[in-house]
Amino acid sequence: MRILAIETSCDETAAAVVEGVRVLGNAIYSQILIHSKWGGVVPSLAKRAHEEKIDMVIEQVLVKARSSIRNFLSTSWGPSSKLKSSVIPSRKKLASSVFSTIDCIAVTYGPGLAIALEVGISKAKELAKKYEKKLIAVDHMEGHIYACWGQNSKGNPKNEFKFPYLALLVSGGHTQLVLFSNHLQYEVLGETLDDAAGEALDKAAKLLGLGYPGGPVIEQLATEVDHKDNYKLPRPMIKSGDLNFSFSGLKTSFYYMLKKMTEAEKNKQLKELASSFQEAVFDCILLKLESAIKQTGIKKIVVGGGVICNQRLRIRLRSLLKRHGAEVIFPPYKYLCTDNAAMIGIAASFKAEKGLFVKDLAKLDRVPRLRLG
Ligand code: KG4
Ligand code: ZN
Repeated sequence: MRILAIETSCDETAAAVVEGVRVLGNAIYSQILIHSKWGGVVPSLAKRAHEEKIDMVIEQVLVKARSSIRNFLSTSWGPSSKLKSSVIPSRKKLASSVFSTIDCIAVTYGPGLAIALEVGISKAKELAKKYEKKLIAVDHMEGHIYACWGQNSKGNPKNEFKFPYLALLVSGGHTQLVLFSNHLQYEVLGETLDDAAGEALDKAAKLLGLGYPGGPVIEQLATEVDHKDNYKLPRPMIKSGDLNFSFSGLKTSFYYMLKKMTEAEKNKQLKELASSFQEAVFDCILLKLESAIKQTGIKKIVVGGGVICNQRLRIRLRSLLKRHGAEVIFPPYKYLCTDNAAMIGIAASFKAEKGLFVKDLAKLDRVPRLRLG
């Protein structure tokens, strides 16, 4: 089953073509430059950018996927055919010829920004209606989980499913521990009660005047001081006995700590401050993951979300898991950690296998607070 997937839940306009877990093409238009001057995602700007770029991104991914579609190679427009320049078809024609080989369309319907989700959903409905394709609605978070099994167009790497798994999802919008007991079966074991881990890093970066998104800048600064933890910020909720997180108090403590410092002091200690904040966030994440391993006895961990790009977190995660004889699967490619449509297509493939198509297009609506399970 060949699927065209669309993702517009936040600030990336993304489309992908997948077959099962194999990604044949992936295209993303990142809105970072649009939002960075505001220090965070502005929903109305996100919506407008999605509307402006979605057709281009879909066309782009269809053209990209063309070279990976095996049965396409033999057609007159296949990449191996020698075309006279006079008969080279336009990008639009190429895209529409690839589109004709698509079996169904998948789209993220939540969680995310309502007006951003709407853009992807209405485009998916429009295409499904016009070309009589089936539609599959996917939860953004199940996409982040399934991203761990993503393959390139040649079918690598090969990871089998050996349920059950514990999924740790850490992004700008979410921080969750999920029991992934079988295909499409999830139970949220714990989650943030306020800010997400990535959001906390972004807010700390803003307080330090570092720009958006903050995670990568904080990582860079922390690396330069070898992950020092001089400031001993609080680790909220670590003794709560449950698997929930809270990061807004940490941000507030950081704010009051910075308020007591002069500009010169802050600038001098910038790297140490960034590093201490990062260590506090990662301690909370790792302590809760450790509790989840102890409580469930599950030693197979999958991870997802933008914060998982962080090398310090990866190293600390690996050493924690080694102590517990546990193993971790990371999304095999960096683009599969952050928001993308390939992960939506991969999750959709498993829904398609079970016949989970949208029955009534008119009734499909965005669910901004959609929750797994
Ligand atoms: O998954 P994602 O692309 O979008 C959401 O679904 O939110 O995650 C974005 C988040 C941002 O908060 C960003 O600061 C964080 O991921 N992030 C990082 C790193 N790269 C991105 N956080 C820490 N270290 C990084 N290297
Ligand atoms: Zn995400």
